[in-house]
Amino acid sequence: MESTPQSREKFASRLGFLLISAGCAIGLGNVWRFPYITGQYGGGAFVVMYILFLVLFSLPILVMEFAVGRGAQRGPARAYDVLEPEGTKWHMVKWMALVGNFLLMMFYTTVAGWMLAYMQKSAVGTFNDASPEAVGAVFDTLLGNPGELIFWMVVACVIGLATCAAGLQGGVERVTKVMMLALLAVMFILVIRSLTLPGAIEGLKFYLLPDFGNLFGGGIAGIGRAAYAAMGQAFFTLSLGIGSMLIFGSYIDRSHSLMGESLRIGALDTSVALMAGLIIFPACFAFGVEPGAGPGLVFVTLPNVFDQMPLGQLWCTLFFVFLSFAALSTVIAVFENIIAFSMDQWGLSRGKSVLMNGVLLVTLSIPCALGFNVWSEFTIPNIGNIQAIEDFIVSNNLLPIGALIILLFCTRKSGWGWDNFIAEADMGVGAKYPKWARGYVSYVIPVLIVVVLIMGWVPIFAG
Ligand code: ALA
Repeated sequence: MESTPQSREKFASRLGFLLISAGCAIGLGNVWRFPYITGQYGGGAFVVMYILFLVLFSLPILVMEFAVGRGAQRGPARAYDVLEPEGTKWHMVKWMALVGNFLLMMFYTTVAGWMLAYMQKSAVGTFNDASPEAVGAVFDTLLGNPGELIFWMVVACVIGLATCAAGLQGGVERVTKVMMLALLAVMFILVIRSLTLPGAIEGLKFYLLPDFGNLFGGGIAGIGRAAYAAMGQAFFTLSLGIGSMLIFGSYIDRSHSLMGESLRIGALDTSVALMAGLIIFPACFAFGVEPGAGPGLVFVTLPNVFDQMPLGQLWCTLFFVFLSFAALSTVIAVFENIIAFSMDQWGLSRGKSVLMNGVLLVTLSIPCALGFNVWSEFTIPNIGNIQAIEDFIVSNNLLPIGALIILLFCTRKSGWGWDNFIAEADMGVGAKYPKWARGYVSYVIPVLIVVVLIMGWVPIFAG
C-alpha cells in the first residue's frame, strides 16, 4: 500500500533528520573524492572555487529538494505527481532520479568495499613496517582480485540492506545517528594528530593558501575543467539532483524552516570535507607524499603515513573505520531512497522492496568491480574505466542536470512555482529563503550551470 501523508513514517527526532541528511551528504565525496581532486587541481584555489559553487549553487538547490519532499509528503517517486500542474510532465524526472541513484550506488558500493577491506587489513597489521612499494602492492592486489572486490562490495550492500530492512526509525535513523557521531569524534582526534606532525605547516599552506596563478595557469580550458570538477563535486557532496535529499524532506514536519536546516547540513558536510583535508594534506607533506596522486591517494599513501607514526596501526584502523562509516551512511541513505521509491511507486512492502532492490543493486555493482581487473580493457578515452564512466555520468552530468530541473520546477509557473516553493521553504522557525535571490536563483544559476557543463564537455569530447 502506498503510504498517505498521515500514515507516512517520520523521523523520531529533528536530530535524526539532521544527522541522516548529513549522513547522506557526508561520504566518499568528502573524505576520498574531495581531497584527491583538491590535490589534483592544486590545493587552496580549488577549495575556494568549490566553496563558491557550494554556497552559490548547491545550498539554494538543497532547500528546493527538501521543500519538494516536504510539500508533497512524498519521495521522488510521487512528489512531482502530487505537486505538478495537471497535464504537465514534470513527474518523468523521477525516472532520471531512480537511474541516478542506482548509477551512484553501482560504483559507490565497490569503493565503500575498499574502505571495509582496508579497515580489516589495517586491523590485522597488514601495513605494519611495510615499505611504500608493499603498501602500493596491497592496493594493486586488491584491485586485481575480482573475488575480494566483489566480497567487500557485497558486505557493504548487505549492511545497507539490513539497516533499511529494519525500517526508518528502527534501522536507518538509529544506525546513522550512532555512525555520524562516532565519525565526527574520530575525525576530530585525527585532525589534531595530523596537525601536530613535524612539517604539517607546508601541507596547511598548500591546502589553505589559495594560489590562483596555479589554477589560472591552464588558461580558459584549465579554468573550465577546474570549474566543471568543482561544480560536480559541490553537487556530489550534497547528493543533489537525483532526489536523494528530497525524500528526507518528506519525513519531517513543518516546525523548522528549510533554509535553516539546509545551512546546518551544508555546514556539517563542509566541515567534514575540510577536516578530511586537514587530516590528509599536512600528513602528505610531513611524509613527502605527492598530494596530486589521484584516486589512490588515501589507499596507496596514507597507510605509509600512519605506519611512521607512534601507534600507527591504531590510527590507520581508526581512519578506515571512519571512512567506512562515512561511506556506509551514504549507502544506507541512498538505498533507503531506492527502496522507498519502489514502495511508493509500485506499492511494494518494505521487505519485498529490500529483497528485489537488493538483488538488483548487488548485480549492477559487479561491473564496477570487474572494471578493475577482467574488464579493465573497457575504457572511454578522457574518462577511464567502468568506475570512472559511472562516476562521470552521475557526478558530472546527471547531478547538475537533475539539479537544474528541480530548480526550474521550483521557479517556473509551469512547474510548482516560486510562491509555492517559498511558502513551503519558509514554514517553521529559522532562517528564511532570501527574497532578493529570486532573480539570481531563477535565471543566473541555470545559465551558469549550462555554461560550466559546456566548458567541461568541450575538452572531454573534443579532446
Ligand atoms: N554525498 C555523497 C558523498 O559525498 C554522495 O559521498
